Amino acid sequence: MTDLERTHERTPVPEDWTYAPAPEARDIVTLRRRYGHYVGGEWLEPTETYTTISPASEEPLAEIGQATPAEVEHAVQAARDAFENGWSDVSPSERAKYLFRIARILQERSREFAVLESLNGGKPIKESRDVDLPLSAAHFFYYAGWADKLEYAFPNRRPRPIGVAGQIIPWNFPLLMLAWKIAPALAAGNTVVLKPAETTPLSALLFCDVLRQAELPPGVVNIVTGDGRTGAAIVKADGVDKIAFTGSTEVGRAIQRELAGTGKKLTLELGGKAANIIFDDAALDQAVEGIINGIYFNQGHVCCAGSRLLVQESIYEPVVEKLKRRLATLRVGDPLDKNTDVGAINSKQQLDKIEELVAVGKDEGAEIYQPPCRLPEKGYWFVPTVFTNVAQSYRIAQEEIFGPVLSILTFRTPDEALEKANNTPYGLSAGVWTEKGSRILWMAERLRAGVIWANTYNRFDPSSPFGGYKESGFGREGGRHGLGPYLQFEDGNG
Ligand code: NAI
Ligand code: MG
Repeated sequence: MTDLERTHERTPVPEDWTYAPAPEARDIVTLRRRYGHYVGGEWLEPTETYTTISPASEEPLAEIGQATPAEVEHAVQAARDAFENGWSDVSPSERAKYLFRIARILQERSREFAVLESLNGGKPIKESRDVDLPLSAAHFFYYAGWADKLEYAFPNRRPRPIGVAGQIIPWNFPLLMLAWKIAPALAAGNTVVLKPAETTPLSALLFCDVLRQAELPPGVVNIVTGDGRTGAAIVKADGVDKIAFTGSTEVGRAIQRELAGTGKKLTLELGGKAANIIFDDAALDQAVEGIINGIYFNQGHVCCAGSRLLVQESIYEPVVEKLKRRLATLRVGDPLDKNTDVGAINSKQQLDKIEELVAVGKDEGAEIYQPPCRLPEKGYWFVPTVFTNVAQSYRIAQEEIFGPVLSILTFRTPDEALEKANNTPYGLSAGVWTEKGSRILWMAERLRAGVIWANTYNRFDPSSPFGGYKESGFGREGGRHGLGPYLQFEDGNG
């Protein structure tokens, strides 16, 4: 026995080993009591307001404007004026400079934004700090690079901006979705009216201060806040030339119906029910990490989450055992604590939806596993959950739960894995875990999903296009592909 082993014998790790709290300081964020709409480079006093809260504590954070159709109209007019009186004539390399500035300011203020994002949305600071903020800045850097190279991106097609883009985003990655929308729109020479989701408006409102610092001309980016009624007003507004929407399939469908025949361009990034497929030759411990990252990242509020786990029958038992053991080590709690793995559910409404679908899963006959876990008393929380004995027909295998809930199914052959993976109305993403390169390629060719990860999951890069098939929507964001929806071409195609 070595000295080290002897020391360990004398001081065993306590049974109730816990991490000491490591909260991120909150005072880097200064909130105003009340926010208006950011229109034409100025703050417009809102006619109606509501209160935004922290989902981890239910504590009120600020009063937020609920934009009326008239206020939306005003914002669209500001965007139209900015487009016609200057922005469309700004040289492409000048446009790039603004985007580079925005990217750099986001990097400089990343801690402030990360804290705010976790405070208002409930996601762990570890994720807002290491994922949302770096990726948001990277997106602006990436599209800054394209701004003066559109002729090369689309040779012989004479790309031109469309005009005013109306952009409606969800609450799961508030600042990152803002970056995905605004960066390509401005790089292509458009102006913007953007609406953040009603539960997470604060990072978009702080972003207005970044725009001021970057000296972006007034009216190029306008931010209006409010719920679905405000979103619907943006969709309806005459002066809007293009709508970009990320959110539920239900609302996406309504928007498509509304826009049919209007000539307005549309891209929809909607839900998903991705298969994460583990073959028996996969590196199991890595795969288990990938399963965890696939479904518990951001509380499972991820459109491309690996929410349907397909495990090859021969390795079902070790995978489930390892998974359960790993699940018990996830720390659920204060989003601002640097040790937290799983934060708060974004809203009461979303918690109700998760609870409802989990109850349905139990009724349908699936077996539920939840590790022992003490949840905070206030706020909205859900224990990381695994369902086994899931049949393909169960609602928990078909519908997007958008929470930390995994449904496990099994398969025997690659053909069966493929058939089950594609048996969904969605088609956004998929994961494949195997040592065999040939099998990865075989699966990737046949999976009906816009994004396929091999031996990894939930990896994002601004240069890689993202988007779906079927009920997951259409259009791509990211990469050169992400510019197309913000351009019109002299050859008349797209
Ligand atoms: P939602 O689709 O209602 O909200 C997304 C955005 O659309 C928000 O900004 C909202 O204010 C806006 N909106 C709502 N109704 C609108 C309308 N009629 N016209 C224009 N804009 C409208 O999503 P919700 O209700 O927050 O979540 C419901 C479910 O949708 C979730 O449980 C999840 O399954 C899915 N979802 C998927 C997302 C994704 O990233 N694909 C993001 C958010 C939700
Ligand atoms: Mg809704």
